[in-house]
Amino acid sequence: MISSAQLHLDEVRLTPKSRLADQDINKVPFGKVFTDHIFVAEYANGQWVKTSIEPYGNAPMSYSVSALHYGQTIFEGMKAYRSAKDNILLFRPYENFHRMNKSAIRMAMPEVPEELFMGGLIELLKIDKGWVPSDEYGSLYIRPFLIATDEAIGVRPSETYKFVIIMAPAGKYYAEPLRVLIESSYFRSTEGGVGFVKNGGNYGRSLYPTILAQKKGYQQVIWTDSKTHQYVEESGTMNLMFVIDNKVITPGLEDTILAGITRDTVLKLARLWGYDVEERKVSIKEVIAAHENGSLKEAFGTGTAATIAHIQTIGYNDKDYKLPAIEDRKFSPKVDETLRSIRKGRIEDTFGWMEKVC
Ligand code: COI
Repeated sequence: MISSAQLHLDEVRLTPKSRLADQDINKVPFGKVFTDHIFVAEYANGQWVKTSIEPYGNAPMSYSVSALHYGQTIFEGMKAYRSAKDNILLFRPYENFHRMNKSAIRMAMPEVPEELFMGGLIELLKIDKGWVPSDEYGSLYIRPFLIATDEAIGVRPSETYKFVIIMAPAGKYYAEPLRVLIESSYFRSTEGGVGFVKNGGNYGRSLYPTILAQKKGYQQVIWTDSKTHQYVEESGTMNLMFVIDNKVITPGLEDTILAGITRDTVLKLARLWGYDVEERKVSIKEVIAAHENGSLKEAFGTGTAATIAHIQTIGYNDKDYKLPAIEDRKFSPKVDETLRSIRKGRIEDTFGWMEKVC
């Protein structure tokens, strides 16, 4: 059972009418339908002053709040699962808690205490547990976020903030294996920047290059380093992995790359299963050479929303490099299946990744 201190809530306002019966939560599109309630904590005068659970709805907020103008916003993505025994389980939630606070420090925002992050989430999940899907690929996507709420146009750290948790039932983020384009002009992040932070701006800036790639028939881009565009970094909203011969290779965690929790999970499984794991710079040249000599067996993205997203085709310099069929891949389909089995409680969780909420 999850062991966070119980949170004292200043206010609990429940919806007079749940929307749950109007939805088929095993079929809703990703991120469009939200559960009945949200958790909100407010920060002012150097401390966290108020906590509440409220019905999901519109935010009472001025058009001048600094989050809207200068991007002082950070978020997390995490998931709750319904096990075969009907328990509600969180996947590695303390990793999200710690990563959120790393983002907060870099964005000059107050850290969120564990009591609020975990305590607020547990109280919210207990109320909205009926929204956790039971399907094999279903989960409840949880979006904790922190936003600057000062009503001020001057550029300075806000003095007031809101920490909010919203939740949305989710199925697969990508229905099919992906076609991805190696991006050689634009970049996602640069050294000394905020690539390792889950800050809204990192995602906003990715949209235009992604649209250009989509016009060429790809779903996502593979980001490359800002200086030489010779080394791969991430793909879209995911960390990136390759299986070359019997090695699982992924870009190392530099400050341009998000420390993905699914990334870490996959690497732990790879090591357990006896694969050589290399976390280091990965050049485009190496990937193309491995494709040409037949040693590139798999490429895939990892992320909370995407889980394991198989890459079918990599585009580079007007050429498409087609990868082996998913049925012929040994590592990533096994990871995908193993993770689903751990989450559903079908196999033993030897790493202690699942935290039972209720
Ligand atoms: C996640 O995988 O949780 C993300 O934050 C990616 C995305 C949906 C923005």
